Amino acid sequence: MPAPREVTLIPGDGIGPSITDATVRLLAAAGAPITWDRQIAGMTAVKELGDPLPEAVLDSVRRTKLALKGPLETPVGKGFRSINVALRKEFDLYANLRPAKTVLPGLRFDNVDVVLVRENTEGLYVGIENYVKVGDDPHAVAQSVAVVSRVGAERIARYAFEYALKHGRKKVTIVHKANILKYSQGLFLETGRAVAKEYEGRVACDDKIVDACAMELVMRPERFDVIVTTNLFGDILSDLTSGLVGGLGLTPGANIGYEVGIFEAVHGTAPDIAGKGIANPTAVMLAGCQLLDHMGEQVRANRIRAAIEATLRERKTVTGDVGGTATTEEYTNAVIARL
Ligand code: NAI
Repeated sequence: MPAPREVTLIPGDGIGPSITDATVRLLAAAGAPITWDRQIAGMTAVKELGDPLPEAVLDSVRRTKLALKGPLETPVGKGFRSINVALRKEFDLYANLRPAKTVLPGLRFDNVDVVLVRENTEGLYVGIENYVKVGDDPHAVAQSVAVVSRVGAERIARYAFEYALKHGRKKVTIVHKANILKYSQGLFLETGRAVAKEYEGRVACDDKIVDACAMELVMRPERFDVIVTTNLFGDILSDLTSGLVGGLGLTPGANIGYEVGIFEAVHGTAPDIAGKGIANPTAVMLAGCQLLDHMGEQVRANRIRAAIEATLRERKTVTGDVGGTATTEEYTNAVIARL
């Protein structure tokens, strides 16, 4: 058994504490070598400390380099920074990794297994926007600048190919719109293809225009393996791939930088069901598996995934969002029993 590693745990707001507790219980039952450093953020931290992202959270992540995070409510109003953007910037979390795999039976597709790698720091989300005044209309024209750098494109492409190699994936598809956006998307495609050459014979590569990719994903998703794409396209396509496998309650997302990895569910705090004990903890549990993968604990992660998948497939003890009547606790116990 390896020495335990310290990981920051941010339980989060709304359903966050109950689904992260369920995940901590499951990882402990699987013998994961982790000790948790619990830290509060979001509304919980605003109420207690007046700051949604206290310095103690950042200090903890700087030290541990790893965090499992429940969903956070960013307070509405001026003076509060967006917690997720702040974390992404602080730790340069350039890769957003969202796997989508069919587990539930009876959906439109029964063989989806796509890993979407989204560039997380550049593209249209850099926040360079302005209005242009024409005549007496100050908002006559609006502009948003998309930034693609060779360094940014290269590191995300390399991340996708390295991920493919490490996880036995066969192909990386570069998704772009270089036929129209010849400069920014052109640079992304050209850089991606150059990186692909280094992996020739080990990982195959093709590329697709984003609109054609969207159509093919909903018609023949089994043709895709790993997708790498820019920020906005990745944002949209990763919700699409989540939809192919049954929705946000089942999809984890990892945010990875050179040094730090932050693992979370894709969904939010679900205020409508918070405190009722009925939330589905699967997405955070799968984020916990991504955390274990990242720590080099793939065997344990796969064992947990198999227990989750078997419990979901059986559909006997599952939560309301996936057609069952079990509580968070009952579902968690069923997964643990399957380990
Ligand atoms: P949401 O994802 O919290 O909820 C959307 C719907 O899905 C709701 O009906 C909810 O009950 C259901 N749902 C979500 N997760 C579920 C689960 N695990 N089990 C069962 N049902 C589940 O999205 P919404 O309502 O737009 O956002 C609520 C809050 O969450 C907002 O304050 C938002 O800012 C925050 N948020 C935080 C995120 C993060 O920290 N990563 C991501 C997305 C939203």
